[in-house]
Amino acid sequence: MAITAGSPFVRDMARYLTGSGNDAESVVRKYRDKRPKVLWVPPEKPAIEIPDDFETLRQKLGLDLKAFAPTGMKWERSPDQKWMGRTVQSIVKAGPRRIYRSRPDEMGGLKISIATVNGQEVEIAVQRTNSEDWDFFVYGADGKRQGYSTFHTSKGNPVEGPAPLTCLACHYNRDQGNFERRPLSYSLASAVVKPFVLALSDPSRLGFLASQPQE
Ligand code: HEC
Repeated sequence: MAITAGSPFVRDMARYLTGSGNDAESVVRKYRDKRPKVLWVPPEKPAIEIPDDFETLRQKLGLDLKAFAPTGMKWERSPDQKWMGRTVQSIVKAGPRRIYRSRPDEMGGLKISIATVNGQEVEIAVQRTNSEDWDFFVYGADGKRQGYSTFHTSKGNPVEGPAPLTCLACHYNRDQGNFERRPLSYSLASAVVKPFVLALSDPSRLGFLASQPQE
């Protein structure tokens, strides 16, 4: 995958990060100057407030991780019917990973996914209001929101990448041009994840997107 300012991925990423659909190069430039970058502020308010610590969010959502800890690969419903969950063997996280999805009918329409790895970290995806795009956030092992996450490449090597930039690479729907909770471009991204993550781990290097010749 050639990542240039002219590629659909960069155009869609630029629109997603800044909320502007105009010419990708100027949007990428605008993003480079945007602060703060590490703890990302979406262009529109996320569908629910994202606090600095996971415990506050968990309480607000009424999700009891201990009472409802699905172990099987099939979706199970939480006792209060508000969630469904399952455990997957994750390649990107190199081990078992629990996934909890809200059931929107029971949650006032809220679509949120919570993915946990052994209490080490929590990744969140929330659908934007009136949009097909989802927002991505990470809480670290200490329960505090952080601007990066660790992934495993297809060869199993751990690499650290900034959030939400790295999230976008895998959670990109190329046909629709938007960013969803389903990791549609995973096979694509896993092949390129390392160079991609390394290039993005220093957001100032986003400039490379704008400076490369178009395809
Ligand atoms: C290297 C590819 C890759 C990257 C990068 C990535 N994901 Fe994912 N994500 C996946 C895969 C694959 C799954 C499916 C579960 C699994 O196998 O771990 C997934 C599942 C999820 C889920 C569960 C969605 C559901 O309802 O099924 C959430 C939430 C999530 N990711 C959030 C994030 C966040 C937040 C980031 C950025 C910090 C991120 N992801 C970055 C590949 C990726």
